[in-house]
Amino acid sequence: MTGEDADHDEGHSGVVRRDRFSGGPARGFMSSLAADERIFAADLAVDRAHVVMLAEQGIVADDVAGEILAALDDVESAGHGALPDGEDVHEAIETGVVERVGPDGGKMHTARSRNDEVAACIRYRLRADLLDAIEATLALREALVDVAAEHVDTVMPGYTHLQPAQPTTVAHFLLSYESAFARDTARLLDAYGRTNQSPLGGAAFAGTPFDIDRERTAELLGFEGVVANSMDASAGRDFLAESTAALTTHATTLSGLAEDLVIFANKGFVDLADEYSSTSSIMPQKVNPDTLELVRAVAGDAVGGLSGLLTTLKGLPRAYNRDLQRATPHAWETVDAVSEATAVVAGAVATAEWPEETLEAAAGDGFSTATGVADALAMAGVPFRTAHEVLAAAAERADGETPDLATLDAVAADVLGESLFEYVSRERVEAALDPVESVASRDSLGGPAPAAVAAQIGDAEAALDADRDAYDARSGALDAAAATLRTEVDRYV
Ligand code: ARG
Repeated sequence: MTGEDADHDEGHSGVVRRDRFSGGPARGFMSSLAADERIFAADLAVDRAHVVMLAEQGIVADDVAGEILAALDDVESAGHGALPDGEDVHEAIETGVVERVGPDGGKMHTARSRNDEVAACIRYRLRADLLDAIEATLALREALVDVAAEHVDTVMPGYTHLQPAQPTTVAHFLLSYESAFARDTARLLDAYGRTNQSPLGGAAFAGTPFDIDRERTAELLGFEGVVANSMDASAGRDFLAESTAALTTHATTLSGLAEDLVIFANKGFVDLADEYSSTSSIMPQKVNPDTLELVRAVAGDAVGGLSGLLTTLKGLPRAYNRDLQRATPHAWETVDAVSEATAVVAGAVATAEWPEETLEAAAGDGFSTATGVADALAMAGVPFRTAHEVLAAAAERADGETPDLATLDAVAADVLGESLFEYVSRERVEAALDPVESVASRDSLGGPAPAAVAAQIGDAEAALDADRDAYDARSGALDAAAATLRTEVDRYV
């Protein structure tokens, strides 16, 4: 044994587990203490709820509970950095309690295991992180709806395959992402519901002979319910997978919006605010959309995190395996990066300018009004497939430009054997060729016509209000539970 190990053995971690296997060359490798800073506050809350419950159930005497709870306050004030050495934060906090209280401090770990304890801590912390992520999606959606409301009439080119396809509006484009982000919020709220369930009391996996009250600890910690099966409680990590998957899906949507904005900035269709751009160290004329490029990359990190997490979980047998210790950080990294990226995109959207004249001038590029003329012919009774043929021939003849009426008429005569104007008036054709009129005509449910978009804005605002209420209810419940727990603790200390 090296001198360092000898020191260690005389020291703190020995208090909890009497030095069994606690030294050795793999000690650092096994420790999660540094990464566990993330769940330091969570562990203190879980310890407090557990001790209050043990006292209420008569498993630990009130005065001992009071000493343990006072020691936990002291450990909290000293901070994570002052914790004694230990394999993880759970062991280190317990050692800190035993150091302060003496052997009776060890009663804190009655009727539980680090397996249910760590699962409770991860859920407790993750739910707060999920709420932050949800709040970020709400702010992003609000920015999109606000900017959309200003640009209901701002006509712009719409693309498929990155080719000009049909004219649309800035509002319709932005709301397409708002709708997707609303589903991302819903997925995060769903993941929150399944994360916010208490595994505490599952013990190592096999329950406990003590007369514990699992519903009481769940209530004290603000969990909505209990993960009943004790093996499932201690071993299950599908809540981590689901939450990380919901975040990764959201990051994927974000990356699409980021890419669209990068492309539009390149075409001069959107002006990003200086705070969301960067300049070149050598090329003085350049303003680059770097923030959005980083958002694209965050989606890659999220996919990597989800993949690391699922690969770690895949094939793990019941019940607890130490692999789980390395599963958790994937979720932390993903939630941090994705929430930050969401906030950055919200800022970029809220501050960007959409140059109306440039957009309108480009809206009909590439004969993107062709479908509208075909629709007009089809409305006059020409089979749509035949109308398509007329316009395809006109497009070929005009070589990517919008053909004039004479060209359209000549092509129609070739295909239909009659003048175009036998079917559709000149005014109707001219209107179909005008991007503004073209957009106004597409007023089907969810379409880009200003009236249809106004309805979408109304629906988006209502859904946003409902999601804000859902967020407020959950975050209020957590605050209330934290206050209740403090009140209960104060009965003993
Ligand atoms: N630090 C561990 C984790 O994060 C929890 C400890 C459970 N350890 C054990 N050997 N049963 O998963």
